[in-house]
Amino acid sequence: MTNGPWWKNAVVYQIYPRSFADSNGDGVGDLEGIRQRLDHLAWLGVDAIWISPFFKSPMADFGYDVSDYCDVDPLFGTLDDFDALVSEAHAHGIKVIVDWVPNHSSDQHAWFVESRSSRDNPKRDWYIWRDPAPDGGPPNNWIGAFLEGSAWTFDETTGQYYLHLFLPEQPDLNWRNPDVIEAMHDTLRFWLDRGVDGFRMDVVMGIVKRADLADVEGGLVQMADESRYDPPAVHERLRAIRTLLDSYPGDRVSVGEVFVLSTARVAEYYGNNDELHLSFNFPPLFAPWDADKWRHRIERTETELGRVSAWPTWVLSNHDNARHRTRYGSSEGRARAAAVMLLTLRGTTFLYEGEELGLDDAIVPAERVVDPGGRDGCRAPIPWTADAPHGWNGAEPWLPFPPAAGDRSVETLLADEASILHLYRHLIAAKHASAALQTGDLTLLAAPDGVLAYERVLDEDARTVLVNFTGEPQSIDAQGIVDVSSIGTGEGEPFSGLLAPDEAVILS
Ligand code: NOJ
Repeated sequence: MTNGPWWKNAVVYQIYPRSFADSNGDGVGDLEGIRQRLDHLAWLGVDAIWISPFFKSPMADFGYDVSDYCDVDPLFGTLDDFDALVSEAHAHGIKVIVDWVPNHSSDQHAWFVESRSSRDNPKRDWYIWRDPAPDGGPPNNWIGAFLEGSAWTFDETTGQYYLHLFLPEQPDLNWRNPDVIEAMHDTLRFWLDRGVDGFRMDVVMGIVKRADLADVEGGLVQMADESRYDPPAVHERLRAIRTLLDSYPGDRVSVGEVFVLSTARVAEYYGNNDELHLSFNFPPLFAPWDADKWRHRIERTETELGRVSAWPTWVLSNHDNARHRTRYGSSEGRARAAAVMLLTLRGTTFLYEGEELGLDDAIVPAERVVDPGGRDGCRAPIPWTADAPHGWNGAEPWLPFPPAAGDRSVETLLADEASILHLYRHLIAAKHASAALQTGDLTLLAAPDGVLAYERVLDEDARTVLVNFTGEPQSIDAQGIVDVSSIGTGEGEPFSGLLAPDEAVILS
């Protein structure tokens, strides 16, 4: 039962490959590990996987520093492993989305090695080089993410600075240079020709910088501030990328990491249905677990994206932020209620590996911290089996396990039909089974304080969703048969009018 392209109704599961499953016992997950777990993902019911970068990389930013866009890092396997993964995923009915990192490469990429070798190297202009300011300092006041020092690094060999919005090991590509555009288009073609179904596009709203590279107010400008970028030029680049993707058969999808904290601005990056197919919308991810705040976020999303007929996406966790269970007070009840909401909002759903297990962030002792951006906790390895080492047989995994790893392992939760893992499976199935939950309109309904209520309707099909954000029981005037309850009570029976603490339900 699909209306339009596959990705509209999809549940996409993000795999952070270092932490998903390790096939060769080196303590780091790999592509073969993913392939071996496809049965499990098919059982869960996801439509697609998005795999965070597995390309050749010195791993200064764990793969978001790419030194060869068209090869697999040996840590993760080979191109043959990738091909085997794609064909087996497709055989399971699972699409494959790869992570494209267009804003910057690694400083070890052959392009940058050439670019930094001399001022007159043909690739000099592939990156953003500038003379020092009159006092010898950086050309402007921009700050790089993670280390929070200057976004410029001085290169002794040629006496100029290069720009990096992230680590010094991640020099920004110059998307004003037509050769860079062509070379990056080629990297898209490389993976499209290998059969991928789409791309998640890293910090794509920032690929073209403002032409004057002027100081920005306050200096300490975060990634989300568009004042460092040139949005009209970015839109033009996105239109060309869209044309390229749409020239391939099979609805290849782009989902942009548009890290802009205004849904109205996010909407711009869909263009006139000629830029991104989908974009992440981060303001809801940063909303606390509060019914009013969520109501407001849903309203904003419906209005702002609705204005340009852009299709929404919903995400609660990823590899850059504390897991939502942890953010919401480490409560399983809230994590379950949040899952009901996540899978019933209007739009494409993005899950992050391990949220279906109700994982919390790992507590990472100082001596095991590896990420300069402080994101290790949400990147902890997935516990597959109840007993240590939880399916990671071989070297100690690269990060410690999350809390209660045995109790929250796939093995333990599979055996318990009341577990959060089974709840996710029911919710995904419920979404797949209902046209209303897929493409139906969303209308917010009146509800008591602390409760979020909405309706999804398409023709004869209708669902009502009620989410109790409080730790108290709540009565609400709503009718219907309980399709799914986050705590598994009363399913198949008429709704009693009472929500238990932290309970969320889908009524039909
Ligand atoms: C956003 C990615 O999600 C993050 O993990 C990465 O560090 C930065 N972009 C830089 O590529």
